[in-house]
Amino acid sequence: MKVLLLGREGQVGWELQRSLQPLGELIALGRNSADNVDGLCGDLTQLEPLAQTVRSVRPDVIVNAAAYTAVDRAESEPELAHIINTLAPGVLAQEAQKLGAWMVHYSTDYVFDGTGQRPWREDDGTGPLSVYGRTKLEGEKAVALCARHLIFRTSWVYGARGGNFAKTMLRLATQRESLQVIDDQRGAPTGADLLADCTAHALSARAPFAGVYHLAAAGETSWFDYANYVFSQVQTARPAMKLIVKDVQPIPTSAYPTAAARPLNSRLNTSKLQATFGLHLPDWRIGVARMLKEMNHE
Ligand SMILES: NC(=O)c1ccc[n+]([C@@H]2O[C@H](COP(=O)([O-])OP(=O)(O)OC[C@H]3O[C@@H](n4cnc5c(N)ncnc54)[C@H](OP(=O)(O)O)[C@@H]3O)[C@@H](O)[C@H]2O)c1
Repeated sequence: MKVLLLGREGQVGWELQRSLQPLGELIALGRNSADNVDGLCGDLTQLEPLAQTVRSVRPDVIVNAAAYTAVDRAESEPELAHIINTLAPGVLAQEAQKLGAWMVHYSTDYVFDGTGQRPWREDDGTGPLSVYGRTKLEGEKAVALCARHLIFRTSWVYGARGGNFAKTMLRLATQRESLQVIDDQRGAPTGADLLADCTAHALSARAPFAGVYHLAAAGETSWFDYANYVFSQVQTARPAMKLIVKDVQPIPTSAYPTAAARPLNSRLNTSKLQATFGLHLPDWRIGVARMLKEMNHE
């Protein structure tokens, strides 16, 4: 199997570079052609060179981990977000369709409007609140035009490599005695490593289970409880780290205005993925605790 990976330097892309290796020949591309094998184009703003790349590599599977993920900045750069999150995945999917290849793509809980308390199912109505969410939803539709598509919607992604919410909270907790953290958005922090491993498992199933799947760690939390969990775990994971924070206050989303609106209910129902691929999704705390220990060795 020949696999073409886009977005190799992102949180999920980095882990996919590891998890996809056993499936066959892996050609992993970053944004800059000069850093890519044979100068192949991995820049999602370059639509024709991107299509040419697929035509010359002729992969059996395209895995697109590249995306415009700056949720707030997307409000002022809607055209760029549209190109990267909608048009480019569409080009990749079209080329995959011509080759009879699989197209794997990642999407987000931000395609939903965040109402209610129930975990979202794949067939629930969408209603993105932001430019990012809208461009990701349009990207899903473009990717679904390839018959052999796997679209994994996920939430609150973190990786040991790169910045993430847990690291930001830890940095702030070493600098400030008092912190305020949103406690009315609920979801499941999901490790890039879990996403990458489940992707590899799904691909190695070799079954025609095309479709949209919700893929997130089990359980749910708020950003406030997530931050507190990180603070409690870090005492054992990184004893040398001196937190000075004494007071962590829960605040509503309305007290922390951002350019892009975020859904309050980001819970994802993952039953379809678990039943289809026979996968077990671990509680979110397991991956977060592991990531904190990995940071210990950085
Ligand atoms: N992060 C989350 O909380 C979250 C939640 C739900 C769903 N998702 C989805 O999960 C997938 C993976 O996200 P992630 O967390 O791994 O994001 P990430 O760490 O921000 O990685 C995205 C990657 O895309 C690259 N990229 C941006 N513009 C590009 C372009 N024009 N051409 C080529 N590459 C480009 C970025 O490169 P630079 O670093 O050079 O910009 C980065 O390496 C995305 O589809 C995202 O929408 C993420």
